[in-house]
Amino acid sequence: MKINHLGIATKGIEEALKFWGDALGLENVHTEVVEEQKVRVAMLPIGESRIELLEPTSDDSPISKFLEKRGGGIHHIAVEVEDINAVLTQMKEKGVRLIDEAPRIGAEGCLIAFVHPSSTNGVLLELVQTT
Ligand code: CO
Repeated sequence: MKINHLGIATKGIEEALKFWGDALGLENVHTEVVEEQKVRVAMLPIGESRIELLEPTSDDSPISKFLEKRGGGIHHIAVEVEDINAVLTQMKEKGVRLIDEAPRIGAEGCLIAFVHPSSTNGVLLELVQTT
């Protein structure tokens, strides 16, 4: 396993890129709207992992709610797994509270599923299986 990306909630990707791109020096290699999650994402590789900047595309986006409560910051950590279905089954057996019982399609066509913070010591965890 590895950290696939760190998701950071922002009010606007362009504004956030003034720091993560211009000041820190990371490169934005991919921008995409993920309609299902009502977010626009920008992917900035850093080592074998990436920073994922998230911007809400509507007022009822999960990111809008997060921004209202916290004004931005780390939104989730994404762990890359080889077999997301096997991991979800294992977690269900262990009584882990899942937000997604079955994988759905995320950015770049990856299979993703979120695990509830109540089971992870307060961290929203995203499981990712790359295709
Ligand atoms: Co993510």
